[in-house]
Formats: sequence, structure tokens, C-alpha cells
Amino acid sequence: MPTMAEIERATAIHPWSLNQFLGSSLRENEYSLVLQEQADGEILGFCIYQQVLDEATLMNIAVHPDRQGRGQGRLLMDCLLRQLSSQGVSRCLLEVRRGNLGAIALYRHVGFIDDGVRNNYYPTTSGCEDALLMSCELVPEQ
Ligand SMILES: CC(C)(COP(=O)(O)OP(=O)(O)OC[C@H]1O[C@@H](n2cnc3c(N)ncnc32)[C@H](O)[C@@H]1OP(=O)(O)O)[C@@H](O)C(=O)NCCC(=O)NCCS
Repeated sequence: MPTMAEIERATAIHPWSLNQFLGSSLRENEYSLVLQEQADGEILGFCIYQQVLDEATLMNIAVHPDRQGRGQGRLLMDCLLRQLSSQGVSRCLLEVRRGNLGAIALYRHVGFIDDGVRNNYYPTTSGCEDALLMSCELVPEQ
């Protein structure tokens, strides 16, 4: 049964280390949403976000490679945005590799818009890649 760190290793270009996951779970303002199979609890995907007052930042999201393209990422993002609204968050931010077209399409589907570009932000095997900065306005419920 895969753990979050195993899914991360299977999907990310520069995966978070186990220590990054552990650190994230210990930090006061960082939270995760985990999507699990109802029958056996298998982890299908997760997202990790940081919340400070009424602003949140999506730090990481991944769906198990065998489960991608079947709406699980959309489900995670919908749950995340609903949860953030219910916690009084009015804006969610994220940054994504400019070439990660699948993730960018998902974010646009759930209401994120482009805010700008951070040039040469991410390391790649052949140099650097720009980060696209995106945000989504939410209706806070508190
Ligand atoms: C990005 C990721 C979370 C999307 O999860 P997913 O379960 O595959 O996405 P979904 O099946 O819910 O797709 C939702 C929408 O996103 C878009 N999308 C998702 N993957 C896509 C791809 N590879 N190419 C184009 N569009 C894509 C589709 O438009 C889809 O809408 P549709 O249902 O109308 O077709 C998943 O691909 C992943 O784990 N990638 C590796 C980790 C990663 O890149 N994380 C983002 C870091 S910023």
C-alpha cells in the first residue's frame, strides 16, 4: 500500500524527502488532505497546504500514477477549496512548473488564474524552468 512519500517519489521531478513530509506534518500552519480508497484505506493522492490567517498556499499535490486522469486530482482540489472556504480563507495561492501542463489545466479547471511568472525558479536536469504563479479567490464562510 503506497504512502504519501512513495506517491511523491513516483510522480515528482524533484520529490520531497521523507523528512520534508515529516517536517510538514509537524509545522503548526501546514495541513494535508489525503484521498483514500474506501474499501481498504489505500492512499490514492494527497495535497499539502499552508494556511496563515485568511490566505492559503498549496505546497504539494499528487495522485498515484495508476489513478491519474480519472478525476482524483479534481476531487482533491474541490475538497481543498471547500475546506479552505469553510475555514475562512479568501485566497489560495500556488506555483507550478510552467511545463506541467496537466497540473496547470487542473488548476484552471477549478478556478485558478495566472498571476505572473517567476523566471528560472525550478531546477531541471538541463537547467532551469519558470514557475507560473496562480491564485484562486474564495468566498470565506466565517
Ligand atoms: C496534477 C495531478 C495531481 C492531476 O491529477 P489527476 O487525477 O490526474 O487529474 P484529474 O483526472 O482530476 O484531471 C482534472 C483535470 O485536469 C486536467 N488534466 C489532468 N491531467 C492532465 C494532463 N496530463 N494533461 C492535460 N490535462 C490534464 C484535465 O483537464 C482534467 O479535466 P477533465 O476531467 O475535464 O479532462 C496529477 O497528474 C499528478 O499527481 N501529477 C504529478 C504531481 C504534480 O505534478 N503535482 C503538481 C505540482 S504543482
